[in-house]
Amino acid sequence: MENRRLTLYPGIHVRTKLAGDKCAHVANRKNFTHLLPERISFDKIIISNPKIYFMSTDTLSDFYDNYDYTAFWNGRNYENGADEIAVSRLLSIITKDKSVAQLNFIDMGCGPGRMVHIYEPIYKEITLLDSSVDQLKEAQGNVKDVDKSKTVLANVQETTLQNEHYDAALCLRVFHYISNPEEVFKEMNRILKPGGYLILEIPNKLNFKNRIRSIFVKKHKNADFGNQIIKSGREDDLIFVNHNPKDISALLKSSNFEVIELLSVSNFRSTFIKKIFPIPFLLFIEKFTQKALAFFWFGPSIYFLARKVS
Ligand SMILES: C[S@@+](CC[C@H](N)C(=O)[O-])C[C@H]1O[C@@H](n2cnc3c(N)ncnc32)[C@H](O)[C@@H]1O
Repeated sequence: MENRRLTLYPGIHVRTKLAGDKCAHVANRKNFTHLLPERISFDKIIISNPKIYFMSTDTLSDFYDNYDYTAFWNGRNYENGADEIAVSRLLSIITKDKSVAQLNFIDMGCGPGRMVHIYEPIYKEITLLDSSVDQLKEAQGNVKDVDKSKTVLANVQETTLQNEHYDAALCLRVFHYISNPEEVFKEMNRILKPGGYLILEIPNKLNFKNRIRSIFVKKHKNADFGNQIIKSGREDDLIFVNHNPKDISALLKSSNFEVIELLSVSNFRSTFIKKIFPIPFLLFIEKFTQKALAFFWFGPSIYFLARKVS
């Protein structure tokens, strides 16, 4: 059996959940190194300091290897359309910038390649990266010209790809699994060419619904919107991280990116609204409000277009 080592840093409380529901609690240990005895016994680790969560990518890839993410989109035509509008709009800003080439593109956490049809016609070489083998296979199946694509099984945080190779990167619906954005930004910065672009989507902790709830709903009063990453519970084995977009903006800047554009996306995501209005109408309004509503951090998704500072 392979040993696995996890290094934790000061000020962190950690609970490790091992097979058979055995738990170990560790609190405030300086540079604590946890040696996991057996790969098989490592189920998940939750770091209960609200700033940092860690989940084994094995858990996540197991989940995505057995998950029909394409089927998840059935009945979500509005949300899918809203993503397509945002990705197309930001790609059109990139392609207008004549100082960058449209050569190498990477989709980080590509899943089944939902956006391949948008970026494939623009770029000469596309890299599909994901931590799930099955998602990669499906993504490859969505590429028309397989000769210009390659798949990479890796973690977005540590891709092992070459330095400064990519003109543009996309990272969509992945950050709800990312509790250490600075590490990921460092890696994105490393693989992007100077002046290269990043299209990043994050789940928005500051969304309008959350803010209204925090005023009127007792349970949500005094909700913490501070500049920190906040976990909200979801599937048993997965973490779900909502990010504060102001915090992400600041982190991008301190990671050598400039933020060029912000979009608020899926602004009308509500079962009630979707029942009343036809999807084409909602997408029509979505198109015209994504930019304006970003000013208010309105929607459940915030898109960043960031550029690596040369
Ligand atoms: C919700 S799906 C989104 C897929 C695609 N980007 C989309 O928007 O349709 C999340 C994908 O990110 C992958 N993923 C999550 N965390 C990752 C990580 N740390 N490194 C690489 N891939 C990751 C998952 O395997 C999954 O395929």
